[in-house]
Amino acid sequence: MSHLVAASLLSANFSNLQSEIEMINESAADKFHLDIMDGNFVGNISFGFHIIRHIAKYAKKPMDFHLMVNNPEKYFQKCKDFGATYVVVHYETCIHLHRTINDIKNLGMKAGVAINPHTSVHLLEDIINDVDLTLVMSVNPGFGGQKFIEHSYTKIKQLKELIQKTNSSSLIEVDGGVNPTNASKLIASGADILIGGKTIFSSENPKQTILDLKNAR
Ligand code: DX5
Ligand code: ZN
Repeated sequence: MSHLVAASLLSANFSNLQSEIEMINESAADKFHLDIMDGNFVGNISFGFHIIRHIAKYAKKPMDFHLMVNNPEKYFQKCKDFGATYVVVHYETCIHLHRTINDIKNLGMKAGVAINPHTSVHLLEDIINDVDLTLVMSVNPGFGGQKFIEHSYTKIKQLKELIQKTNSSSLIEVDGGVNPTNASKLIASGADILIGGKTIFSSENPKQTILDLKNAR
């Protein structure tokens, strides 16, 4: 499968949210990436379901919810109600990750697990066959526009090996500091989905930047 591109609305202009969403609808992006932060697991608060209600009204592409919150299970029903395709929880927030993943799937959504830069890929060995998606954080979560952490390439390669070895169908997504310059190397390392935030919304030509991410080989 050729890789997908997700647009992270965190870096969108929220005073003009409807037109930002429509721009993504018209672009080559495959889906929306919504970052939900609680100011507790991460040192920032982004937006919650009140705003997502408005996003969902205009978004014409699938929406993935990246839950950077403690006790993420409190929000699964809301994710379902607001039309999430994938719900991604953080490995670091889930004491009973196997149960958490199954709770997401039992609600009819796809389940993903995200790992912070310090979290080893090896810790996913016993859950890799249960998840639809693994998200490699290539920055420390909480903020857009941070510098890509180079060690992420190694983690993506390790993850790809684990997925192949275990016949898992998990996709690999990479989040943080992605741009048209590192896109090719990320894909060569094994990434299936590139998430773009600042690189898209700070671009002079966001649709072209999305195309550049999409056309990276
Ligand atoms: C960071 C978020 C990312 C963020 C990426 O915690 O999970 O989705 O929007 O932003 P960029 O692409 O600007 O690093
Ligand atoms: Zn994210």
